[in-house]
Amino acid sequence: MALLDSLFGKKQANKFVGVDIGSSSIKVVQLSKKKGVVSLDTFGEIALGPYTGKEIGQTVRLDTPQYGDALKDLLRESQVDATVAGLSIPLKSSLVFNMKMPKVSESKLDEMVRLEARRYIPVSIAEVSLDWSVIPNEDDTEEGDRFLNVMVVAIHKDTLNKYKEISQMANLDLRFLEIETFSTIRSVLRHDNNSVAVLDIGASVTKVYVVEYGIVQKSHVISVGSQNMIKSLETQRKLSAIGEDLNLVQGEELQKQIESSQTTPVDLDRILSETKQVILDYQKVHRKNIEEVILTGGGSILKGIMNHVVNALETEVVIADPFNKAETPAFLENTLRDAGPEFAVAIGLALRGLQ
Ligand SMILES: Nc1ncnc2c1ncn2[C@@H]1O[C@H](COP(=O)(O)OP(=O)(O)OP(=O)(O)O)[C@@H](O)[C@H]1O
Ligand SMILES: [Mg+2]
Repeated sequence: MALLDSLFGKKQANKFVGVDIGSSSIKVVQLSKKKGVVSLDTFGEIALGPYTGKEIGQTVRLDTPQYGDALKDLLRESQVDATVAGLSIPLKSSLVFNMKMPKVSESKLDEMVRLEARRYIPVSIAEVSLDWSVIPNEDDTEEGDRFLNVMVVAIHKDTLNKYKEISQMANLDLRFLEIETFSTIRSVLRHDNNSVAVLDIGASVTKVYVVEYGIVQKSHVISVGSQNMIKSLETQRKLSAIGEDLNLVQGEELQKQIESSQTTPVDLDRILSETKQVILDYQKVHRKNIEEVILTGGGSILKGIMNHVVNALETEVVIADPFNKAETPAFLENTLRDAGPEFAVAIGLALRGLQ
């Protein structure tokens, strides 16, 4: 079998697990494909806090072996039996930028992109792994016609090695590593999406992507996430209600508090004003309208935030439903719709694995 693999290239997997290592939890989704139909086998999540003496939901940084242990535990608990996997890399651990390049042949372009990219990368080029792709240019003037718009992705080799080690520790056959941006848009976009913004509110950071016909035009990281919102609301509560059960604040109470609040909580306000700016900049430069904002990430499950998002962005806002990219059992419909935003990255990875 191993010989056949090496002779004919790796066999197309018929079941595949996507692994998203976030700052508060790891998420896995296993999808399988039979007769061209993709279906959900299993999914699960494990909080990382307890691996380093912190609480569930807290954002933490672990050592590589601790991530390995957590992933092993999660794969076992979720009864994942696929051994081939794809892992995501956080956008904040990578550098993504656009460059204008002259129109030249593909091989020449590769050489030129690598040379030019040095100017954007703060560390030695030997320390990073580079990837690039041409993105469609809508500048149809003569000037625009002479240039190519190239998106470059640079990832530190230490980062790549860390994720490779984690997957080895969990006995996974790693087929690819992908920046979370691309996994997310694969699972949350609806086929008819023209120009949309995707807002991924994670536990530690928020990511904004502008996507046009499925191609990422812009990505932006905001260094505020749902844990910041929760912490500042907790502090407010501590000051106003000493002695109350603070655990309540984490759940329903918190959501009600955000929902009923006339003013947007300060951290959410920061997320929304930066997002608005990204959208406005894009609309101005590209002379196009963002038709819809797709909310994803665990932070978007905080029900109270929806009103604030709609008010601030003045655009149609929808919550991502990434599980609908696969066949799923009917009795899980509501559970999967609610949990979907947290699993968007893992689903996107598994979808790529089966393509
Ligand atoms: N059912 C829920 N109700 C309310 N909030 C929730 C719920 N589930 C998750 N969250 C919020 O989502 C957060 C986790 O989001 P997510 O899984 O997207 O973060 P992450 O991927 O670990 O973080 P990051 O992307 O910043 O590294 C939790 O910390 C919590 O604030
Ligand atoms: Mg995340």
